[in-house]
Amino acid sequence: MKRHAVLQPFSRDHNVGLVIARRLSERPDEHAIRELVTIWDDEMRDHFEEEERLLIPLSESDHAARMIDEHRIIEGMIAKAQSEGLSLDEIRTLGKLLGNHIRWEERVLFPALESNCSLESIADATDSLEKRRADSRHSPRRAELVQKNSL
Ligand SMILES: [Fe+2]
Ligand SMILES: [Fe+2]
Repeated sequence: MKRHAVLQPFSRDHNVGLVIARRLSERPDEHAIRELVTIWDDEMRDHFEEEERLLIPLSESDHAARMIDEHRIIEGMIAKAQSEGLSLDEIRTLGKLLGNHIRWEERVLFPALESNCSLESIADATDSLEKRRADSRHSPRRAELVQKNSL
């Protein structure tokens, strides 16, 4: 099923997240973790904040709790990567956690939001998120994808 238009900006962010998650879990090294930290600073922190600000008020309580728990764990590991660094095993674990988190949002959280809620109330906010990503260096084809989906 096609993702609801209001959630598509989050799903486009997820494309970037899934690529780096796979890289971290399959080829864990310093280069991969540096790339993740760059993506975090450029857009993933904003993604987490916007999911919490916009989607938690619309979510069932167990979904909201899971999102927050997983965000805090992933954020904590990224903070450790930036301070003392991560072992190769920790980098691999972080990749798996991030990939599983994104897949859960796509397969469970977003379908639940689409069937239970009026998402139009956050349409302006996700639209402005999409505008902030317009020149994302992590997703050069993003504008093209937006245009294709709006046809
Ligand atoms: Fe999330
Ligand atoms: Fe997400």
